[in-house]
Amino acid sequence: MNLLTAQLPGRAPRSGKGLTLGIWRCMLVAFVLVLSLGFTQVAVAQADPDREMSSAAPGITAEQWRQVRSGETGPNFRDSRHESTYNLINASGETWRILRNRWVSPFGLIAIIGMAAVITLFYVIVGRKQLDEPRTGRKLFRWSLFMRSLHWTVATLFITLALTGLNLLYGKFVFRSLFGDAFWGWMISASKVLHNYLGPIFGILLIVLLISLLKDNIPKKQDWVWFKKAGGLTGKHHPDAGFANGGEKAWYWLLATVGLVVVASGFVLDFPNFNQSRDTMQWANIIHAVGALGLTAVALGHIYIGTVGTEGSLEAMTTGYVDETWAKEHHNLWYEEVKDQAITEEELAARKSGDSSGDISASRPS
Ligand code: HEM
Repeated sequence: MNLLTAQLPGRAPRSGKGLTLGIWRCMLVAFVLVLSLGFTQVAVAQADPDREMSSAAPGITAEQWRQVRSGETGPNFRDSRHESTYNLINASGETWRILRNRWVSPFGLIAIIGMAAVITLFYVIVGRKQLDEPRTGRKLFRWSLFMRSLHWTVATLFITLALTGLNLLYGKFVFRSLFGDAFWGWMISASKVLHNYLGPIFGILLIVLLISLLKDNIPKKQDWVWFKKAGGLTGKHHPDAGFANGGEKAWYWLLATVGLVVVASGFVLDFPNFNQSRDTMQWANIIHAVGALGLTAVALGHIYIGTVGTEGSLEAMTTGYVDETWAKEHHNLWYEEVKDQAITEEELAARKSGDSSGDISASRPS
């Protein structure tokens, strides 16, 4: 007979023997309950990590931590995941993280903001470099359509890479709290994809640009004098300059050295499928970031000089032509070579309508 059904109303009262049996069963159930409660306590105690640590594992000494960090192996501690050389604690990863977060990030920001501040101050105090003499209205051909297109493509790619790179490094401190997680998530993955895919295109076009400009950027004695006179900032007269002046050559060689290092380290990061080690990737990341942040800071100077900083420079890269006065004042040696080829504005308009502006040989020195 079932214990429960025994007490259901409407049933006939049970015999004394049956009642005793019911009481025994109740006591048995209570005993089992108390016993299982005791076991649960033990199980909970084992799930508590603190209690587990204090009872199950002996304390780890500083010496043992040092050994684990350094990757030393021994009979009691060894990590041989996938037969790699990974340590339990990736000490070189920690060095990379400290270099990136404590040095590269803050100093990169200081370099870029510092450069922007210096340029602004320079503009406020010294102002735009105007032409000393009035324009003659006669034009000299300087940049072919090919070179202008190449320059603006490389410049656009550089600026996009700089902005997406800066977002990868600093964006979370600004945009995450500003726009919220959903938009920030979209923004950072878009930055990463753009950066990864545009980087190699920039690299290839930069090499084409550097090869095209090499002949005009071979360092000469006059470039040293140009620097000593700070490009004409000191003294009355403009220092001598050929097709490219000392400052332009410095920008060229910075791109040809640091620029190419940034491109090469970018390739190491972009294609991790050539068996390069984690350490190589970490160093590539640091070199890439330092070079790119430095170039971005200097590029601000180039952009300033090419736009608001100097009267008449931007039209060289937009129209392909410069005024004779600009050529005489900024690139006197080049001017002497090509002055016979100066044309009037009417001739220029006629030439443009005849669509010969893309002709690289128009007035470049041979
Ligand atoms: C908005 C951004 C930029 C502006 C307004 C600008 C403007 C100019 C101008 C006006 C010139 C011609 C100067 C002259 O005729 O003497 C020039 C030349 C040049 N630019 Fe830019 N630029 C920009 C960005 C860039 C970037 C990002 C790069 C490289 C990554 C670059 C690389 C060069 C090079 C290599 C030259 C030739 C200098 C030489 O002859 O050695 N530019 N730029």
